[in-house]
Amino acid sequence: MIPSVELKAGTDFAKYVGRGVHLHVDGTQYIDCASGTFNLSLGYSAGEVIAALHEQLDRCSHLSSDFTKSKSADIFTLLHEFLPPQIGAFWFRDITGSTANECAIRIAQKATGKSDILSLFLSHHGQTVGSTGVSGNAFRQRSFSLPFLGSVKIPAPDCANCFYAQTPDHCGMLCARRLEDFVEYASSGQVAALIIEPVLGNGGNIVPPRDYFRVLRATCDDVGILIIADEVQTGFGRTGSFFASTGFAKDLKPDIITFAKGAGGIGIPVAGVLMRPDLDVLEPWEHSTTSGANPLSLVALEQTVRYIKRHGVLDHVEAVAAPLLRGLADLANRYPCVTNVRGVGLMQAFDLPTSIDVAMFLTMAKRQGLILRGSRYGFGRAIKVRPPLIISASEVNDLLARLDHALYDFERETCRS
Ligand SMILES: Cc1ncc(COP(=O)(O)O)c(C=O)c1O
Repeated sequence: MIPSVELKAGTDFAKYVGRGVHLHVDGTQYIDCASGTFNLSLGYSAGEVIAALHEQLDRCSHLSSDFTKSKSADIFTLLHEFLPPQIGAFWFRDITGSTANECAIRIAQKATGKSDILSLFLSHHGQTVGSTGVSGNAFRQRSFSLPFLGSVKIPAPDCANCFYAQTPDHCGMLCARRLEDFVEYASSGQVAALIIEPVLGNGGNIVPPRDYFRVLRATCDDVGILIIADEVQTGFGRTGSFFASTGFAKDLKPDIITFAKGAGGIGIPVAGVLMRPDLDVLEPWEHSTTSGANPLSLVALEQTVRYIKRHGVLDHVEAVAAPLLRGLADLANRYPCVTNVRGVGLMQAFDLPTSIDVAMFLTMAKRQGLILRGSRYGFGRAIKVRPPLIISASEVNDLLARLDHALYDFERETCRS
């Protein structure tokens, strides 16, 4: 006999209501500066996306990818104006960034006939065995004996903590140039690709110096390896251009781009891979998932692209990012605990002295009605400020005012102890 389960009152999600950039919890309003799990690019309630999803739900919630091929092709055409010129093919068979990155790795390996993957210290490329294996953080790996054979990690372009102990203007861009040494001395000699986040997101919102991408591309060309841009966080307008690699990181000229998170607009899971036409090498059985290219994901993806176009979201991000960055810099001037304000578009951050301070500050910010996130799952010092792309100028002012209150409380508290 199946035991009857008593449903507990209050275990549903009725107390949560999302509107625009706000999450209301039991009637208390928060500005969501984490954009959900960094996936609510259009906030909680973009009407056009929701209406299209309702329509699709009324017809059918699932179709196998055999039936959705032409929709995927239409969306790729719609995306065309936002792609770097070298990109000419796609593989939309994923709903998570982790597996999209694994797909990109498979493409690079199959196309080159080589095995090894370079990635950066502090990088995060996902939670599956393979994508964790190429990520540059021991804390996610130490409990498992699941190494990714052929993963080679190289120092990140983290100027505030330069691995080579250089200063930015006189560094010779060693973090890009010395890649050659890692290929020569740390790899198996069979390197297929480098995978890189244009802004290292989970690692602490680390923004490489602009010239980094040019030098990195030249170095990869010299040693003959492909570049995969993991744009799971930076894609779909987050940095003010559609992809970072069509904007501030355009000199990266990636051979393959992966996307997820914000691509679903209001948090609908969807992910994909974009590549040079000659890298379109996979057979359907070599990378495919049950829910990849399902109609709800594709509708959300299509509507998100249309929304970005129709509402001029990229220009809007540029317009509101400038006052946000100025406001954060102003807070850094007034509060000594705030350092290293940095960011591109609506992907901004600052540091507090320690990771313990970060944990304390996040609680204080919540009291002021701010949902914020730290970095590296609590191991880092960064506070990330990344509201939905549709945040208005007055909401940016509100966000800054609430941050000001939270920092005031934080400094009073930490001086007292
Ligand atoms: C840059 C980057 N790549 C890949 C992933 C993995 O994406 P998902 O959680 O959808 O598998 C993440 C997730 O945080 C990410 O930030």
